[in-house]
Amino acid sequence: MTFNIDEIRAQFPILSREINGKPLAYLDNAASAQKPRAVIDAMTHQMSHSFANVHRGLHTMANETTEEFEGARAKVAKLLGAPDASNIVFTKGASEALNLAAYGLAGEIEAGDEIILTQMEHHSNIVPWHFLRERYGAVIKFIPVTERGELDMDAYKAMLGPKTKIVSVVYMSNVLGTVNPVKEIGKWAHGAGATFIVDGTQAVVHRRVDVVDIDADLFCMTGHKLYGPTGIGALYGKAEILDRMQPFNGGGEMIEDVYETHVTYNDAPHKFEAGTPPILQAIGLGAAIDWLSQYDSGAIHQHEMAVYHHALDGLRDIDGFELIGDAPEKGAVLAFNLKGAHAHDVAQILDKYGVAVRAGQHCTQPLMEARGIHSTARASFGIYNTLDEADRLVHAVKKAATFLS
Ligand code: ALA
Repeated sequence: MTFNIDEIRAQFPILSREINGKPLAYLDNAASAQKPRAVIDAMTHQMSHSFANVHRGLHTMANETTEEFEGARAKVAKLLGAPDASNIVFTKGASEALNLAAYGLAGEIEAGDEIILTQMEHHSNIVPWHFLRERYGAVIKFIPVTERGELDMDAYKAMLGPKTKIVSVVYMSNVLGTVNPVKEIGKWAHGAGATFIVDGTQAVVHRRVDVVDIDADLFCMTGHKLYGPTGIGALYGKAEILDRMQPFNGGGEMIEDVYETHVTYNDAPHKFEAGTPPILQAIGLGAAIDWLSQYDSGAIHQHEMAVYHHALDGLRDIDGFELIGDAPEKGAVLAFNLKGAHAHDVAQILDKYGVAVRAGQHCTQPLMEARGIHSTARASFGIYNTLDEADRLVHAVKKAATFLS
């Protein structure tokens, strides 16, 4: 499918909305992306045509729904380059996937064992590891981030040692936009005998991902940033890692047999999916993957970066504008501050012009502290954003700079 921005935008009903009397410029895609008609229709069709529970029934609708649900798992596997659908555990989102990873591996952690993260992690890839620090005495180390927003790889290599048990890093930062050299990070992690985990939440939306090529042991993603519904995400795991991990939730479907004296578990991925899963959301995610896969990922990347650079060129002329994150390898995330202005005030003024951005710490407090800032405004671009919207961002930020200076 050729990349035609008008044709793409026409598929998103919400984009024709007006906000405060202005056309919506939705630039908050790193927080959550809007949904194309294909996803809305797939979910409506499921609910109005064949909805039933999965794996349990022998009737037609249960079989149809099971087929669609398991089909969605296979689509996630294909999207990530996973060898098999059984490598994919459905979760509520990326946060739950990372919590599952930490809980699942907790049995292998002893006091003094080291977990290496980066200073640019989202809280969802920090707090689950703090649980292991609090409960089992794990020691957490953070790879420093340079002024431009890159990882200090020498510092990382110096951190590795016989006590390193886990290295868990973000692929693409939700604030800096930095795309980290995960393949190299993984090679060094494995060299130290550590389990290598990748938070692929943002990366999977903006670039082609191959979990086998980067040799991730575990890899997480979420659906709602990928133009799919909320309430669905996935944890990819190598078969031997999923076998090693202890289950997180107990209940139906995750068991093989339950006795008064003991219980035996189902194989992965079902071992990790207790109870009725988010059926509708998984099917919506499958539809989002089908929808996105019709476009060339290179063309999407080129388009998003063109919009990003167009916006940045305009913003750089504004007095007091400061870009946060300027790594050579980055995606279309534009975090910034205006000297003397609070990011929340900037975002509120932008909203008056119909421009939706996020402001705050973006769930990355250690990153903010390392850079000596409290918060940022952030425009994050997606497949449907336009050069005109970038101009409108620049215009609104100019107004904000005038009002707040
Ligand atoms: N993690 C999401 C963001 O960066 C919510 O905005």
